[in-house]
Amino acid sequence: MSKKLLIIDDSVEIHEIITNLISEQFSIVKSATNVDEAIEELKTEIFDCIILDINLGGKNGAHVIKFLIDTNNPNQEKPFIIISGLIGDSFVGKYKRKFAGVFLKPFDHDEFIECVEKTLNPDKPVLNDALDAIPEVKCDLPFTIPFIEEKVQSALQTVRKNSHLRELFETMKIDRSEGNYILAHIGLLVNISTALSIAMEWNTDKTLCKFVYAAYLHDMAISDRIDLVRIRDAKDLESKKKSFSPDDYKLVLNHPLIAAAKIENITEIPSDVVHIVKQHHEFGNDLGFPGQISANRISPISAVFIVAHDLTDYILDNALWSYQDYLKSYRSKFKGATFNKVYSALEKVLKE
Ligand SMILES: [Fe+2]
Ligand SMILES: [Fe+2]
Repeated sequence: MSKKLLIIDDSVEIHEIITNLISEQFSIVKSATNVDEAIEELKTEIFDCIILDINLGGKNGAHVIKFLIDTNNPNQEKPFIIISGLIGDSFVGKYKRKFAGVFLKPFDHDEFIECVEKTLNPDKPVLNDALDAIPEVKCDLPFTIPFIEEKVQSALQTVRKNSHLRELFETMKIDRSEGNYILAHIGLLVNISTALSIAMEWNTDKTLCKFVYAAYLHDMAISDRIDLVRIRDAKDLESKKKSFSPDDYKLVLNHPLIAAAKIENITEIPSDVVHIVKQHHEFGNDLGFPGQISANRISPISAVFIVAHDLTDYILDNALWSYQDYLKSYRSKFKGATFNKVYSALEKVLKE
């Protein structure tokens, strides 16, 4: 996909903001800082999207609009988006239909990104549809973590804007009715992994987003199979082997690798997420599957997710769960330096 963007604005700051917000969607980003430069660019190159400020260092950007609309130029039919601090309501009302979007400075960044996405992909569902495709997961944690709600909501919002996640979610047949196990599982997992991550002092937005991605995607290969999805460890899997068909057994055994293979070439999903998904049923011993890999091959970020996943299902499976019982079982299940560090974070989370 080679898409070209032209930003016409005399403010370096606005160029930077716009580049940060939308440059990923373009292979070429060109800039013009005045009317003459802008017209020169528009005469010689074809752009997929043009962003234009009305006030260009004293000169009126309306000259550029006039050039675009009234002259025979290669961008005559191309979408352009107006941003301005000087724009009046009457101007907005008069021209709104002519432009792909009109934004008053300071403008809402999410709305701006949404407008550019819609301009480039007019047939794709807009953000609100995308948000509907990826269900909101909520969960009241059975313990208190200060500011967890804000952290979780902000990471959820960022991740749910990823169009690749929407596409993946559309391929997953998830029962969205109230009380559905998968959504409860994802919701609790997002919250517990975020809480553990904060307790480990890894509470950057980037890290929290990785846990949200992993929570949504880790069981994607079996998300419609409620009969298969609640397997906790290799012992549990072997005990149920006889009741599964050979294909179903293989599917459960390999579901972490199948999901990881589906996301490993998506550049917008961080590579840590691929490792987390691959390792989400590994315990660092023979209880894990599919690799039964040793604890020293499990990355610290995967270890946090593995523990959050284990605790999530422990809580969902035991109405009378207690943190003392869970911590006791943890000691016999998880060994090694990486899991010892997670244990300290877990104690902090559960006891506070
Ligand atoms: Fe899971
Ligand atoms: Fe799983």
